[in-house]
This record gives sequence, C-alpha cells and structure tokens, in this order.
Amino acid sequence: MKILLLNGPNLNMLGKREPEIYGSQSLDDIVAQLTATAKDRDINLSHIQSNSESALIDAVHAVFGNVDGIIINPAAFTHTSVALRDAILSIGVPFVEVHLSNVHAREPFRQHSYFSDVALGVICGCGAQGYSFALDTLYKHLTSKE
Ligand code: DQA
Repeated sequence: MKILLLNGPNLNMLGKREPEIYGSQSLDDIVAQLTATAKDRDINLSHIQSNSESALIDAVHAVFGNVDGIIINPAAFTHTSVALRDAILSIGVPFVEVHLSNVHAREPFRQHSYFSDVALGVICGCGAQGYSFALDTLYKHLTSKE
C-alpha cells in the first residue's frame, strides 16, 4: 500500500512556529514517527512539504495511478485553494485532511475548508497525533476494500 503525506505552507516551521497552537514537535519528528508506524503495517509512506501551491499540485499529479491514498495538511491553502482541491480530485484516491489545531475554535476564515466536503475524513485539534489517526483511517478504509 502506498500513501502520500502532503504538508502545506509554513509547516516546515513546526516546533518553532506558534508552539502554543501547533505544538513543539518538528515536522521531521512527526514524519519520522509516522513513517515508522507505516512501516509496521507494510505501508510505503512518502512525504512532501512545500510552501508553494504549484509544487504541491505537481506532487499530486506525479503520483497519479501510483498511490492508494493521501494524508494532507493543506495548512493555509485549506482556506484558499480550489486548485489543490481539484488536483486531489483529479487523481481519484481517498484522502484524509489533518489540522494540528482546532480550526473551528479559531478565526472565522479558518472555518471554511475547500477539502472537507470531499475528504474521507477530517481530523483537527488533536495535534501531531492527528496524522496517525489519519493513517489508521486510510489503512482501515483501504484494507476493508481489498
Ligand atoms: C493548520 C491550520 C491552518 O488554518 C493554518 O493556516 C496552518 C496549519 C493546522 O494544522 O492547524 O498553517 O492547517
């Protein structure tokens, strides 16, 4: 099973960036932990973080026909990017949307997502653990279809 993990803008700053909101773990730590969990289940997890919308779109196109599911934290693009939503829909695989913070308890502009209505699931406010919940959800979904 192949899963692509995508992280959007400013998530490379995790650990340093507003730690009271996003926690103290770095993105490298989060990805290393998730990769180990994935390996235990024989899941091949690849990861891309980018601050550029076009790089994220290109990364999605590049896995067309070669990935079973996506875990994405679109970060600020959650609230702005029809283009990234369309890219994910164009490859036709299930995806889980993750946010470290509880976006519903924050500014009103964070309460709309261009992804949630087409996601398999949405996890927010659970911190870095949200990524492992997302992996669980995708794994169960994909294995129950086999
Ligand atoms: C975020 C929430 C977004 O509103 C914000 O722009 C981010 C991170 C989160 O993980 O809580 O960059 O996606």
